[in-house]
Amino acid sequence: MEAQTSAVARVNANARVAGPIILLGPPAAGKGTQAKLISDTFGIPQISTGDILRANVSRKTELGAKAKAIMERGDLVPDELVCDMVASRLLEADCAHGFILDGFPRTVRQAEWLDGHLEQLRAGKKGDSCAQQACAAPVVIRLVVDYNTLLQRITGRRSCPACGLIYNVYFQPPKVQGICDVDGTPLAARPDDAEDVFAERMKAYEQLTLPLVDYYKARGRLIEVNGDQAVEVVMAQAFSAIENVNRL
Ligand code: AP5
Repeated sequence: MEAQTSAVARVNANARVAGPIILLGPPAAGKGTQAKLISDTFGIPQISTGDILRANVSRKTELGAKAKAIMERGDLVPDELVCDMVASRLLEADCAHGFILDGFPRTVRQAEWLDGHLEQLRAGKKGDSCAQQACAAPVVIRLVVDYNTLLQRITGRRSCPACGLIYNVYFQPPKVQGICDVDGTPLAARPDDAEDVFAERMKAYEQLTLPLVDYYKARGRLIEVNGDQAVEVVMAQAFSAIENVNRL
C-alpha cells in the first residue's frame, strides 16, 4: 500500500515538473515511439508536427495543400507555416503543464522562434494557458541512431491510421500481421518511407536539423541518448534525463 502511494505521488510529481520536452533526431530515430511513452507517463501531450501536417494533408486543408508535395519529396515545410501551426497548438488547454515536441524544431530559425515564443508565453503576452513551468526552457533529448538501423526501421515501419500506434515488422510486429493490436484497423506504411524519399529526408536532416545539436549544446540543454537500444532501455534513459534535468 505504501509502495503504491509513493508510486502515485511520483507520477503526480512528474506531471507537475515535466515542462517542455523536445525530441530531436533523424527520421525513424524513435521520436514518435518515445513521445507516446513520455506522454502516457507524464500526462502531457505529444505535439508531432509530422502528424499534424499529415492530418492536414488527409483533410485537404489549405495548409495540407501547401505541405503535401513538399512532404512527398522529403523536404521541410517552410518555417513560418510550421511555427504558426505550433503556436496555435500551444494555446490549447492541455499544454498547461508541459508538452513534448516531436519533430519540432527542425531548423535553427524554428528553435530561435520557439525560444522567443516561450519567453513571451512566460511573460503572459500570448494568452494565459501556459503555466510558468510549462513554458520554461525546454529539455532537449537527442536520440542517436546509425544510418543502417534507421533504414531498416523506415522500411519496416507500419502505423495504425485510427489510433496512431507505431509498429515495426522487424522489431515490434503486431500480434496479427498487418492488423492493429488495439482496434483491429489494417496497418499502413507512410508514403514518405520509400527508400528514395528517406534519402532526401536524411539530407534535409543533416543540412538543416543537425545544427540544432550545437544550438542546444551551447545553451546547456542537450542530453544525448543512444536510440539504438530496445525501446524500454531508451525509454528508461530518456525518463531519467527528464527527471534529472528538472531537479536542477
Ligand atoms: P515527421 O513525421 O516528423 O517524420 P521524421 O522526423 O522523419 O520522423 P519519423 O516519424 O519518420 O520517425 P520517428 O523518429 O518518430 O520514429 P518512430 O518512433 O516512428 O515528419 C514528416 C515530414 O513532415 C518531414 O519530412 C517534413 O516534410 C514535415 N515536417 C514535420 N515537422 C516539420 C518541421 N518542424 N519543419 C518542417 N517540416 C516538417 O520509429 C520508427 C520505426 O522504428 C517504427 O517502426 C518503430 O516501431 C521503430 N522503433 C522505434 N524505436 C525503436 C527501438 N528502440 N528499437 C527498434 N525499433 C524501434
